[in-house]
Amino acid sequence: MSKAITRRSAIAAGAAGAAGILATPPISMVRLAFGGTRDDFTFTYISDSHIQQIKGATFVRNWDMGLKRAVAEANLVTPESDFVMFGGDLAQLGKREELDHGGEILSHLKSKLRMVMGEHDYYLDLGEYWSKLWGPHSYSFDHKGVHFVVLNSILTDDHWTFHRWPSAEQRMLEMAGLDNPNGSPFMVGDKQRAWLAQDLAKVSPETPLIVFSHSPLQKIYKGWNFWTDDAEQVQALLQPFKTVSVIYGHVHQIQYNQIGNISFNSVMATAWPWPYPDAYAQAGAHVPVLTVPMNRGDPFFERDATGWQLIDASTGRCALRYQLWDNEPRTVAFDQKQGRPVDLAFQEPTRRKPPQTHY
Ligand SMILES: [Fe+2]
Ligand SMILES: [Fe+2]
Repeated sequence: MSKAITRRSAIAAGAAGAAGILATPPISMVRLAFGGTRDDFTFTYISDSHIQQIKGATFVRNWDMGLKRAVAEANLVTPESDFVMFGGDLAQLGKREELDHGGEILSHLKSKLRMVMGEHDYYLDLGEYWSKLWGPHSYSFDHKGVHFVVLNSILTDDHWTFHRWPSAEQRMLEMAGLDNPNGSPFMVGDKQRAWLAQDLAKVSPETPLIVFSHSPLQKIYKGWNFWTDDAEQVQALLQPFKTVSVIYGHVHQIQYNQIGNISFNSVMATAWPWPYPDAYAQAGAHVPVLTVPMNRGDPFFERDATGWQLIDASTGRCALRYQLWDNEPRTVAFDQKQGRPVDLAFQEPTRRKPPQTHY
């Protein structure tokens, strides 16, 4: 309770204060100086709820509660978010019942909702029912001087999508696995890249660009599909813009990176956290070198280190404030001097927590 009051107070204070850095321990809140003509604004991002039907009207309660909690907290944000993005994987196995049930929970949001497609939403009917509920899989919009693009980044090649499996259910089950070594890696694909090029042709390179995808538009770890196969081609379309932020879900953990003009930030899940790939594989680091892996306080508490984010886009770059349930809050914000995102509390090696070694 005291956490929520502190956060709301901090957000309200930040909105009034505007310039400089305002830190209100234990929750860091950042409003960087912004000298342009655009209005400051925030939006809330909720992702990866994995609503799962057991039978009939019975759903996995834990995942329901995660999403309900995120919706309730998003409704308490002051000042109210301009909109809420849902980052994909609303459902676990793409069923109508799951999408309907998740949609019903999301319908309690006060702010306008926009959606990103996740592979768990897609591979049963290739996004048909999702489209009936929420519209096109990729789209763009302008908001207070920022151009936003939403991509469906979880497509696979045609053989994999249409011919490989005897049934749609089997395809969905295969694509729902984390270890997916036989699968075609995710991609944005030719058609959507052509659409993106056309969409961006109308936008000035000075306009801040924020791109939402489900999988990272960078290559992190292929074995878990923390990967988009045509990432370089998508990045090439984004590089001409001066200020680009890509925000993605899917990985259920904190990751951040900078490639040229593009900053990459992940968002957390409301359902469960994934361990970092290098910790799991006991192999070389598979997360971007900038990322300070988040310590999980209790790996046996399956909801530890899940949470949600409030994103401040006042500088044109995104500052992500991670509100982690039962773990420490963090802020990852773009540092103008270093030209990349940094974790405001843990980036310096001396301030990092040692990684856990007991799993
Ligand atoms: Fe997910
Ligand atoms: Fe996913």
